[in-house]
Amino acid sequence: QAEQVGAAREAATLDVRVRVGPEAGLDGVTTNPSHVFKAGRKPMDIYTEILDIVDGPVSLETVTLTAPEIIAEGRELAKLHKNVVVKIPLIKEGLKAVKVLAAEGIKTNVTVTFSPLQALLAAKAGATYVSPFVGRLDAVGHFGMELVEQIKTINENYGFETQIISAAMRHPTHVLESALAGADVCTAAFDILDQLYNHPLTYIVLNQFLTDWAKVPK
Ligand code: E4P
Repeated sequence: QAEQVGAAREAATLDVRVRVGPEAGLDGVTTNPSHVFKAGRKPMDIYTEILDIVDGPVSLETVTLTAPEIIAEGRELAKLHKNVVVKIPLIKEGLKAVKVLAAEGIKTNVTVTFSPLQALLAAKAGATYVSPFVGRLDAVGHFGMELVEQIKTINENYGFETQIISAAMRHPTHVLESALAGADVCTAAFDILDQLYNHPLTYIVLNQFLTDWAKVPK
């Protein structure tokens, strides 16, 4: 079992290494404490590795609960690389920290967002990004995508520049609905990204084309 876990970790690392960069539609990476736990390695090792591979925003999450602690954590994380976005939970202390870090020019991603009013406060605090957790709202009987739509409306009403990261995607249709709702970014697992490429008609028609091409006199 240990070997299987090890192999899975290896594969995950390889996946990021091979796929970030040339992959269409892949602009950055988000992490959270659960992702780090599942990776089974020291956070800093994972963070520096991702930052080395990815040429785009990389969200790294703080894990403290008071503004002074979050600010200190955020400053340390931001020192790692110019691409770091400090991911901060949407609690009152978190938004205090966002305001301070934003004034210092440090990018922030306000996470675990579940209501439009929370997102309004994140925007007012100067968050660079806000992450509504769509799939987790669906899981408790809400229409999660409505949150993205409401945040979009609020941002447009007031000219907030906070970008919406549609998060906790569970299937390709979530990505479609996010795009239709005007989310600026979607964060999803690689298996969902893979599914976006696929349409059975593409393979059927391509097969017809190539079959015909083989019969063309050359
Ligand atoms: C990203 O910002 C979130 O941490 C992530 O989308 C949460 O996804 P999950 O609900 O699949 O853990």
